[in-house]
Amino acid sequence: MADAETSISRTLSADVVVVGSGIAGLFVALQASERGASALIVTKGAVDEANTRYAQGGIAAAIDEHDSPEQHLRDTIEAGAGLVDEEAARVLCTEAPGRVADLVRYGVRFDTDGGSISLGREGAHAGRRVLRARGDQTGLEIELSLSSLVQRHGITVIEHAPVERILVEDGRAVGVETLVRGGKTLRCESPSVVLATGGAGRLYRFTTNIESATGDGIALAFRAGAEVRDMEFTQFHPTAMHRPDAPVFLISEAVRGEGAVLLDTSGERFMPTVHPLAELAPRDVVARAMVEQMRETGADHVYLDVSQHDADWLATRFPNIYRTCMESGIDMARDPIPVSPAAHYTMGGVRTNTWGETTLPGLHAVGEVTSTGVHGANRLASNSLLESVVFARRLSDRLFGDETAEEPPAPSPGAHTLPPAGGVASPAPPTREEVQRLMWEQVGIERDADGLADATERLAAYESALPPTTSLEDHELRSVVTCGRLAATAALLREESRGAHYRRDFPEQREAWRRHLVFRAGE
Ligand code: SIN
Repeated sequence: MADAETSISRTLSADVVVVGSGIAGLFVALQASERGASALIVTKGAVDEANTRYAQGGIAAAIDEHDSPEQHLRDTIEAGAGLVDEEAARVLCTEAPGRVADLVRYGVRFDTDGGSISLGREGAHAGRRVLRARGDQTGLEIELSLSSLVQRHGITVIEHAPVERILVEDGRAVGVETLVRGGKTLRCESPSVVLATGGAGRLYRFTTNIESATGDGIALAFRAGAEVRDMEFTQFHPTAMHRPDAPVFLISEAVRGEGAVLLDTSGERFMPTVHPLAELAPRDVVARAMVEQMRETGADHVYLDVSQHDADWLATRFPNIYRTCMESGIDMARDPIPVSPAAHYTMGGVRTNTWGETTLPGLHAVGEVTSTGVHGANRLASNSLLESVVFARRLSDRLFGDETAEEPPAPSPGAHTLPPAGGVASPAPPTREEVQRLMWEQVGIERDADGLADATERLAAYESALPPTTSLEDHELRSVVTCGRLAATAALLREESRGAHYRRDFPEQREAWRRHLVFRAGE
């Protein structure tokens, strides 16, 4: 693997340049390599350090004899609160079993029981449908398997090289330029640029995402002229372990899938009166019910109780969670775990068709960075790793196979623009923490017009005060501010509540808003 420092002043070229090295990027690169195309991966960290690595729950696929892609599709549409693109979701659910087979072929070892792959349950799924690995470390197994295979295939990887801009010539993406240490740049040229940079969980003060999940790909694509859609929809995961003064740690929904219940501070269950699926209701429903409980009791958390299982069973089924709880002094077999919601997944992103094509020719996107339409206003659990592999494979079929796709997505009529940066005087560039606090408090689980209007103004002022980008910190701050502006502006425009977007001042879902909000840079 080449380090960016050794690549200064070089121009590299390849059949495809892939930005990001989580499941989506690695899968595209492997597919390209298998079809004899040259792939170049550019990533801002180490090749095996991506959000994928920390995915716990798993990957959904209808592989059980009592299940079907049709049922998976129904659950995906139901969770998405009226905004799921049915065609894209049908592709997702139908192609899922084949992509699981690809992962197995790439060396991923899913957990088995009596010789067959064992399936877990998560919220809003009609039955057991979630494949997992290493108990609760599915992402780790996938990231390590795919990144070592990338190495074995001899695919070039440039590490520690944040992409600073997408190169556009005559209205077409032709490569990327990276920021490397010392402020010098590396040019990577290609007729096909693929963004696989993940989401923007780090927009928020409390998040299950790793430090580097700063929405870079969304911001880069937007600045290059591609359309970005659905940015008002951020999924808040209900159960992050609440530990003051320690990083947020996810307690997988699979724990509720194995029977864990949520308790208020006096030890009472509250979900059965909120939704027929109780603790396994869609995430937006559970997260809001928890916030309501916390408001009523004045507590900053509720509890998750899984003590019906014994320690041996828990340590085998959830080794990572069990160990982390123990390190925090919580014995899951006896003690309820304090939990509160945290930002988890960016449903919106760069608009693509079902072949990974964006509205900017030559620019493609796969995984959490995209808005394919499969998640609508609220993603079904464990559909995200799945989305990455399904659409990575289709993109590869399009780029390197003989697949002739539909036309690339046409520009949306009525796309919005961001108001110009500036406005309220901002004395100094913001810190990332300031932006994250603003987003959490005013563009978080519950929003209203006053908070959103103030947030949009403040973020516009922040944007005009940003320093020139000479370091990774500057680069990520710029991404966070751009994505924050897109999310806050879209949330202000959407005067209804739907899925993960809840407006205190418009608490009902409104038929007139059964549509997407699209943004494009420009006048
Ligand atoms: C979890 O393990 O709860 C997260 C899975 C997901 O977000 O799909």
